[in-house]
Amino acid sequence: MNKTALVIGATKGIGKSLTERLLCEGYSVIMTYATDNETADSVFSSLSLRFPDHVFLLQADSSDWSSIDRIVSFVDEHHMMLDVMVFNAGSTDRSPFLSINPESWMQVFMVNVHFPTFLLQKIYPYISHGGNVVFTGSLMAIQPHSLSLAYGVTKAAVHALVKNLVKFLMEKQVRVNAVAPGFVDTEWQKNKPDEIRHNITRKVAAGRFCDPEELTDVYMLLINNHYMNGEIVVCDGGYSYQ
Ligand SMILES: NC(=O)c1ccc[n+]([C@@H]2O[C@H](COP(=O)([O-])OP(=O)(O)OC[C@H]3O[C@@H](n4cnc5c(N)ncnc54)[C@H](OP(=O)(O)O)[C@@H]3O)[C@@H](O)[C@H]2O)c1
Repeated sequence: MNKTALVIGATKGIGKSLTERLLCEGYSVIMTYATDNETADSVFSSLSLRFPDHVFLLQADSSDWSSIDRIVSFVDEHHMMLDVMVFNAGSTDRSPFLSINPESWMQVFMVNVHFPTFLLQKIYPYISHGGNVVFTGSLMAIQPHSLSLAYGVTKAAVHALVKNLVKFLMEKQVRVNAVAPGFVDTEWQKNKPDEIRHNITRKVAAGRFCDPEELTDVYMLLINNHYMNGEIVVCDGGYSYQ
């Protein structure tokens, strides 16, 4: 039977790799993105050729409350029930502590914590009994090395959210977990200066960034293993062990 997944932040990086993996495993996938229409259209076209009628694309910026209604209406109008719900989009603000302003602080909280919480509330009736929810957390929630205070704090909130949600979702046997990646070679990291990239790989026992494709195994483990619930699974190549 065909299963359906909704991936928030799906047109690049980790979300794009996970979308491809889910499609390969027989899911239909609704992909959302924020602003980069050109990339989204091109990724959507190429995936639609490979997986006709199984890919859906929706522009829905997680920093805008109205996107919640747009996503829920889309699912409702297509008469879909979701087997998998992935909250992957993330935001950061790397201002030094003394320059952080409340607006950008709130924007990071909005994308990383508030939007997922209230989208989950509204989309919950459309999640199948026995379905599951996966968040993208971060190693920076556990080892507070982030250059962004708001990022480290909000990702820690995501991890806490996952653990606290378990009991609220159990009546429908919906599981909720998070993947906490270390450093993954996506645009997010590729835009960093070479010197910073070198400093990162020096601290990783694997001696390299994670490939987004290899991270999809961790998401699939959480999706497929029916006894995983309330877990934060770190995948960091052995960060800080050397
Ligand atoms: N890369 C890492 O090393 C790393 C490590 C730990 C955790 N993470 C987490 O992994 C997640 C994905 O990161 P990534 O490295 O794969 O990023 P990425 O390559 O920059 O891709 C981000 C994707 O999310 C979408 N997105 C961004 N902001 C959004 C918003 N406000 N609303 C809806 N969609 C949005 C982007 O769409 P547009 O292109 O339209 O903006 C794009 O499709 C984030 O939560 C990040 O914090 C990443």
